[in-house]
Amino acid sequence: MLFPLDAARDAAFPRDAVEAVTHPDPFPFYRRLRQERPLFFDRHLGLWVASSHAAVSAALGHPALRVRPPAEPVPPALQGRAAGEVFAQLVRMTDGPFHAVHKPDVERVARRWTLADVACAAEDAARDLRPRLPANAFIAALPVQTMARLLGVPAGEREATCRWAAQFTQGIAPGADAQAVAQADAAAAALMAQGRALGLSEVQAANRIAFMQQALDAGSGLLGHVALQLAQDPRQAAAADASRDAMRALVREVERWAAPIQNTRRFAAEALTLLGQPIAAGQALLLVLASANRDEAFNTQPDRLDVHREGGRSTGFGAGPHACPGALIAIEMVAASAAWMRAAGQFDHYFGRCTGFRPLPNARIPVFEH
Ligand code: HEM
Repeated sequence: MLFPLDAARDAAFPRDAVEAVTHPDPFPFYRRLRQERPLFFDRHLGLWVASSHAAVSAALGHPALRVRPPAEPVPPALQGRAAGEVFAQLVRMTDGPFHAVHKPDVERVARRWTLADVACAAEDAARDLRPRLPANAFIAALPVQTMARLLGVPAGEREATCRWAAQFTQGIAPGADAQAVAQADAAAAALMAQGRALGLSEVQAANRIAFMQQALDAGSGLLGHVALQLAQDPRQAAAADASRDAMRALVREVERWAAPIQNTRRFAAEALTLLGQPIAAGQALLLVLASANRDEAFNTQPDRLDVHREGGRSTGFGAGPHACPGALIAIEMVAASAAWMRAAGQFDHYFGRCTGFRPLPNARIPVFEH
């Protein structure tokens, strides 16, 4: 039986799959979506919502489903502006031949760093930030500061570079106000000038920004969920403290289980059929990656957080042509910085209680008491 979404809904459930991102426990709602309507059109959101692994993976691999509405490669608010010029060249925001040509270059850059390079950069960032920032500011800053170190940004330019990366990210987000867009323009110009000074092409300079921009919210979410888990479960924390491999296993399983990027979107370039459902050209889809990870058809006992699980699988870093090229970097960065902080002491006191999640439509980032 289908459950009503607009009326008489279970009060414990979020209203929809976007509200679910910041809900205290969205997973029972996701389970019900998977069981009763794994792919349906949510009239309230004006989006198709895919929640089963079959629906999410079919959508991630479908050639007619694009990362941008085909008629609007750049959001109108950014068109003709510096931020829009960068946006148009990001592999994250493009499909087709442009994406196919430039994604391998981005992947090559990501592979250039060894795990030791990443760990070293993350520990250095943690050592620098932890004494001067409270927990929420720390998890917001660590990923972008780590990426700035990996990209070779000189120490004296790091604060400004990370601020520009954050301003660019905020200004290109849907619904950004005029001031945020103006700041994103200035930030884009400054970051592109850095890239050109390094001898990079325009596309390379734009995607150098992406390494910092993509790390920001996603990396903060992963670090936040790992910190939460370590603070909540002392036995698990002690096991993770035993070795870097043990900490990495915890980070990987927390990523699957908590899914810091809960959803991503796609837009139909032409009419298509997905799992027997007709989707019209121009319609948008919300792919609930967090729900796909908890699908029994994808993982056994998916609701159990089990660092020893064998063959655990995740769509949390995406899949198909737009799969995240930063997955290994993100896992190592979080494992290394968490291990460094555990060794530094006062871990539980520093993070305190989780009071909720930042108000974002796709990233689930814990907010700590202090
Ligand atoms: C070092 C940190 C990170 C870097 C440098 C990074 C970089 C990127 C880049 C450049 C893309 C665009 C790829 C493309 O569209 O072809 C991407 C996509 C993606 N990333 Fe990451 N990322 C990082 C961390 C994370 C984390 C922690 C998560 C979640 C746990 C994540 C989840 C995703 C997802 C889901 C996509 C695909 C989005 C889609 O297909 O719609 N990333 N990442």
